[in-house]
Amino acid sequence: MSSAGMPSIPTYPELAGKTAFVTGGSGGIGAETARWLARNGVRVTVAGRDQARLDAVVQSLNAISDGHAAARPDCTNLAELEAAHGELMRREGRLDILVAFAGGGVSRPGPLEDVTETEWRSSLDNNLTATFLTLKAFVASLKRDGGGAVITMASTAGRAPSQAPLGYGVAKAGVIMLTRQAAQDLGPFGVRVNCIAPSAILTDRTAAHMSAAVQEQVALTHPIRRLGSPADVAAAALFLASDSAGWITGATLDVAGGRLMH
Ligand SMILES: NC(=O)c1ccc[n+]([C@@H]2O[C@H](COP(=O)([O-])OP(=O)(O)OC[C@H]3O[C@@H](n4cnc5c(N)ncnc54)[C@H](OP(=O)(O)O)[C@@H]3O)[C@@H](O)[C@H]2O)c1
Repeated sequence: MSSAGMPSIPTYPELAGKTAFVTGGSGGIGAETARWLARNGVRVTVAGRDQARLDAVVQSLNAISDGHAAARPDCTNLAELEAAHGELMRREGRLDILVAFAGGGVSRPGPLEDVTETEWRSSLDNNLTATFLTLKAFVASLKRDGGGAVITMASTAGRAPSQAPLGYGVAKAGVIMLTRQAAQDLGPFGVRVNCIAPSAILTDRTAAHMSAAVQEQVALTHPIRRLGSPADVAAAALFLASDSAGWITGATLDVAGGRLMH
């Protein structure tokens, strides 16, 4: 631990030489997770839609080690995901770790009757369907190559009712069940599937929407009195990808500063 209570990068020697595909890799939590994987000797392909953000992340990965790349599938589009998978197979020949962190969409918090159909569908598409399609496009090669680790992304909003947009919370709850079902189906093939459910994580995007005063208020709603960082999530992801989590599958890990306890 650093003096601020943030995790420092652990080393899992068995990860060295492995290959990872990280959706949501163009910024925030996904980009930090990609860097932590690279620090452990993993060759990472980061996926997102924003080329400039992806270029910046690949540059930061290449400053750590060689062999990283970017891909630009829209995760709501199966054909684009399959094309990205094909390109990954041509370049790397195999996949060991699938990090399905892409999420978001256009929706606002508010009462059910004010949620538009567009907002609802956007939340479901960009979180639940995007995760389903990502797993659909990529897990066959994990099975074929003798196993691996899949890590999906939920939220405290998918664990309990909250002030988050309705569709977002429902979609993230769906990701948790998708994870459990996939873990049951893929376990016999050596593929572990686990989920991370973060509370408020301070990224560039969330920081832009929260004044310092609001950040302080939100921090006080957590028993561990600070906001989460992308590093907190990256540490959990690295553990779930490692052999240290070899008998853990179908689990949802709350990275939530104690705000939610299951
Ligand atoms: N930050 C938090 O407090 C928090 C808390 C709980 C859960 N989460 C979850 O953590 C994940 C990462 O969030 P973040 O805060 O790091 O946000 P972010 O910086 O906004 O990252 C979202 C990522 O998802 C990608 N993405 C979204 N929709 C996509 C789509 N249809 N196709 C392809 N890529 C798509 C974005 O790519 P482009 O920008 O390149 O399009 C970006 O890389 C999300 O699933 C989010 O719901 C975040």
